[in-house]
Amino acid sequence: MTREIRITPSILNADFDHLDQEIAKIASVSDLIHLDVMDNIFVPNFTFDFENASEIIKGCPIGVDAHLMVSNVDEIGPRYAEIGCASVTIHAEASENIAKTLRAIRSQGARSGLAIKPNTSIDEYEQFSDLVDMFLIMTVEPGFGGQKFMSQMMEKVRAVRRVIGDRPIWLQVDGGISLETIEIAVEAGADTFVAGSAVFNSDDPANMVNALRSLAQKASS
Ligand code: DX5
Ligand code: ZN
Repeated sequence: MTREIRITPSILNADFDHLDQEIAKIASVSDLIHLDVMDNIFVPNFTFDFENASEIIKGCPIGVDAHLMVSNVDEIGPRYAEIGCASVTIHAEASENIAKTLRAIRSQGARSGLAIKPNTSIDEYEQFSDLVDMFLIMTVEPGFGGQKFMSQMMEKVRAVRRVIGDRPIWLQVDGGISLETIEIAVEAGADTFVAGSAVFNSDDPANMVNALRSLAQKASS
């Protein structure tokens, strides 16, 4: 079956001093911009606080897919929805009330996302599928760009695809996605792809987004 493919480039490996120009390079060919928010508590790295992230979100020419790798996600998740993110993804490991936070994100008009780290099983989170517009299966340990794709996560992607079936819930993979790995993830059932270093370490980021999309579309048909 042919699935709709979405490419959501991560700006984690872009030049943070010239983010507007970096985003402009890929905006017209991307579905959403993936914004990695890290607090140096949930993950051992820091990217943006809410103020900085708000400025990026408000100035972004296309919708933002916020990936919140922060510990206070139940409080801050709905605020990211409120300021206009198209999609807000919380980590299951960080949330004390997943259902409530997912509902609050949706009620602010954003798509709700639920992410799990490589060592987290999907089993106890399948129950949230009615409250979720996207599952995110991490294919690296969250925290840094440029890590190696964990192909052993494809079993989990297949399991999530079985849970989703043909419901319009997106299935995103994040970490190590490149021209070498994207087809493996499509075959396992993913339809939404974060790519950071593959896009921004390339000489022509827009061209790389197009190349990833066309490879994924071929693999899905
Ligand atoms: C890692 C981030 C990813 C990362 C992807 O914690 O969530 O979005 O930026 O970067 P690459 O594509 O380089 O693995
Ligand atoms: Zn991410």
